[in-house]
Amino acid sequence: MSNAPANYADFYRQSIDQPDAFWAEQSRLIEWHKPFDRVCNYDNPPFVQWFEGGETNLCHNAVDRHLKDRADQAALIAVSSETGLEKTYTFKDLHLEVQRMAASLKALGVQKGDRVLIYMPMIAEAAFAMLACARIGAIHCVVFGGFASGSLAARIEDATPKVIVSADAGSRGGRALAYKPLLDEAIRLSNHKPEAVLLANRKLAPMAIVAGRDHLWDDLRAIHLDAQIPCEWLDSTAISYTIYTSGTTGKAKGVQRDTGGYAVALAASMKHIFDGRAGETFFSTSDIGWVVGHSYIVYGPLIGGMATILYEGLPTQGMDGKPDGAIWWSLVEKYRVTTMFSAPTAVRVLKKQDPALLKKYNLSSLRALFLAGEPLDEPTARWISEGLNVPIIDNYWQTESGWPILTVANGVEKKASKFGSPGVPMYGYNVKLLHESTGEELTVPGEKGVVVLDGPTPPGFMQTIWNDDARFVNTYWKSVPGRMVYNTFDWGIRDKDGYYFILGRTDDVINVAGHRLGTREIEESISGHLQVAEVAVVGVADALKGQVAMAFVVLKDASASQDSAVSLKLEAEIMKRVDNDLGAVARPARVRFVTALPKTRSGKLLRRAIQAVCEGRDAGDLTTMDDPAALQQVKDLVTK
Ligand code: PRX
Repeated sequence: MSNAPANYADFYRQSIDQPDAFWAEQSRLIEWHKPFDRVCNYDNPPFVQWFEGGETNLCHNAVDRHLKDRADQAALIAVSSETGLEKTYTFKDLHLEVQRMAASLKALGVQKGDRVLIYMPMIAEAAFAMLACARIGAIHCVVFGGFASGSLAARIEDATPKVIVSADAGSRGGRALAYKPLLDEAIRLSNHKPEAVLLANRKLAPMAIVAGRDHLWDDLRAIHLDAQIPCEWLDSTAISYTIYTSGTTGKAKGVQRDTGGYAVALAASMKHIFDGRAGETFFSTSDIGWVVGHSYIVYGPLIGGMATILYEGLPTQGMDGKPDGAIWWSLVEKYRVTTMFSAPTAVRVLKKQDPALLKKYNLSSLRALFLAGEPLDEPTARWISEGLNVPIIDNYWQTESGWPILTVANGVEKKASKFGSPGVPMYGYNVKLLHESTGEELTVPGEKGVVVLDGPTPPGFMQTIWNDDARFVNTYWKSVPGRMVYNTFDWGIRDKDGYYFILGRTDDVINVAGHRLGTREIEESISGHLQVAEVAVVGVADALKGQVAMAFVVLKDASASQDSAVSLKLEAEIMKRVDNDLGAVARPARVRFVTALPKTRSGKLLRRAIQAVCEGRDAGDLTTMDDPAALQQVKDLVTK
């Protein structure tokens, strides 16, 4: 940047004090078809519109833009240790595949503004589908492949997609997981029916084809082999996608993002935060079903002109399907990965492997490992930092934000990380800590408060909740009395140097192996079991997964739980139910039976007290508790 301040403090200050000048400068990192008239429209808070009047396209910036300089360089590297497939698509190849997919979607009736739901494993076709939607101005809604029919049906109903793109099956640990029956069941459950379903077929599981509705990608691709589908120029504020995430209620929220703001935010983050350069390789181990997959498997690296690795499989499985704890490191060596992005959970899995595996390959290309999604504990951070000998960069953000809120911007100024802290506020984010009940701003270092953002939120941040502006305002912006601030629902503290420490969620969201889940959704699934009268689900600390879900159930017939054979059977039934409704990711680690749940006198479930007891902590102030014996039951069960 021409007039970039030399240090991060100035860079940050400019982003907050002169956002228009700051973001106008950043906007030059992408290509615009038509320049914008206004940088930031914050006339109607908390809604913010970035780069109004401008026209651009995410797919153009991720693919077409690079054809001039790097058509024959690697763009998408699809690697599956599940099937042994390894294939590199250059920018030219990707351009062709995306156009074939775009033509296929159009042939199925998809037009600008239509929704396309993508329910796919980690295969190249998933990225083609996302980019094809962006290309033609369709709104994609990717649903994590680990979710089952109930979750999927709720998302189909909310997104009302014209077309669903899916596959015969995913695969995990060498075992095929049929997707098609789950999809068919979800469509049956949903009141909304898609007009067409487009299916990639790897022949991992048999597929029942619904005549007239289902189409095979191989067939349509063959028809559209030479398709030329130009990018649709979209308003900067046009919706690019929605992605569902869990909150306090049982109903998942469709986080909605724009086009121009998101493109600029990602391009800026590739430069200032990830310090990745065009022609290099980025490797994010996340999944396209999560926000990290959207921002840093598909769009971010490609917008930055980098090759991106799309990896299907476990971190401990070789290309021959046999155990191999060094598979990721072999990819770093082979593809000269410079920038890697993963989650603490994955590192904790690798930590159980032979440490010599870290030395097996030449990792000299690697400059940094970014970790996000859950708290990074110090032993894990130290282990990987010593093993790789590159900076380990913790970064804190959310599905809602789309890119890091707290970290260090080494592309602007090298700054030391502190163990246990994701870092300092990123440019564009006016981060504050507020007192939980008074809403007063906390300024003394070390005080614990709720992490909030003052508007306007930066480019790339969610625009609203899909189809529900009121819920967006009420959920995120009205939770602090008398102040309109964005609530992250995370606890935090700030030290004297301005580094933040994140202490966990203030709401009922839990984080299992880096997967964000709502305890209310799990409770709703369990409540559907005919014998269940009442249930509480809490997140309990787990050494490997960060947290696991633990369910406490009151049965309609209390005597059933006295019989251990019956209660074991019921536990299995309840787990199966959650598997079928939500997917195995949401399955509680244990289902425990009690005769009453701890509540306040006004009948509110004391989830935090249950959680504290499960973790062997003090349950805190229980003066409002109705029935102390109920909490004692929980205590007896978990200490047994
Ligand atoms: O509680 C915070 C935790 O994960 C939540 C967001 O999860 P999700 O929407 O899935 O987005 C993940 C994007 C990386 C946050 O509200 N979280 C995320 N990163 C960190 C974290 N907690 C502690 N440290 C982090 N680095």
